[in-house]
Amino acid sequence: MGSPKRSNGVPEMAEPDRSDPVPLLYGELADWYPLLTPVDDYADEAGLYLRLFEDHCRHAPRTLLDLGSGGGHVAAYLKATLRCTLVDLSPAMLALSRRLNPECEHLQGDMRALRLWRTFDGVLLHDAVSYMATREDLARAIATAYAHTAPGGVALFQPDFVAETFAPGTETGGNDAEGRALRYLEWRWAPASCGSSYVTDMAYLLRDTNDALEVHHDRHQMGLFSQADWLELIGATGFQPLAIAVAHSSPGEAGAVVLLGLRPVMGSES
Ligand SMILES: C[S@@+](CC[C@H](N)C(=O)[O-])C[C@H]1O[C@@H](n2cnc3c(N)ncnc32)[C@H](O)[C@@H]1O
Repeated sequence: MGSPKRSNGVPEMAEPDRSDPVPLLYGELADWYPLLTPVDDYADEAGLYLRLFEDHCRHAPRTLLDLGSGGGHVAAYLKATLRCTLVDLSPAMLALSRRLNPECEHLQGDMRALRLWRTFDGVLLHDAVSYMATREDLARAIATAYAHTAPGGVALFQPDFVAETFAPGTETGGNDAEGRALRYLEWRWAPASCGSSYVTDMAYLLRDTNDALEVHHDRHQMGLFSQADWLELIGATGFQPLAIAVAHSSPGEAGAVVLLGLRPVMGSES
């Protein structure tokens, strides 16, 4: 892990607008998150990401920065091989992840503005990058990834969809735990006026120990960019961009595209 100086040409980012509404799932309902998407479901994906880091990093990867680390469900697998630093906007999600991954470094931060002034062999922007709903926010997140990727290292972006793979749809699911249970309906749709975004409306039914049921609606505003836009933005930072089509085990992600940014070894300090 290196330590770039502030004069390395990467601009200090202005703070983005923090008035964006925080989805309930990452705030007051964060404790329910593992019942919506259990850690066991992430093993295959995590294995895929580790292989991609190992195949494309110019040296054996040892450190990872996970931007938008959520419950730490991917990191729970990667931490066996990589020393992980986990960053999320939400204190409630960081608290959840700390319980699962107490051995990992946890920091609160915004992927559109974070500057730690150190670099990592791998930088992961998993499904959280889907919350970049404007081209400007996406460019900021990619610039953050570049600023934290070591020379010869790899940034990996896994949006839920690119424009070419998006399809409106619904999914249902949920799980039981001791004394409580969650069921959800996920409804993805693109408003007629949408330029670079789509909406995921979530309905949660939460049953607690006393058998009482709560129902919540939670709207998630997501970004939608073509593969060409992704590659252009990744390339514009100084990364060598690469798109890889993968068959995914995650719901709604069949035929997903993983985008990589390979940071050159030479000339990467400018
Ligand atoms: C679906 S969860 C990520 C789950 C994660 N991949 C895991 O392994 O558990 C999405 C996360 O993105 C975070 N997030 C959304 N916008 C963000 C931003 N601008 N910067 C950092 N984190 C952000 C949310 O707080 C939330 O925890």
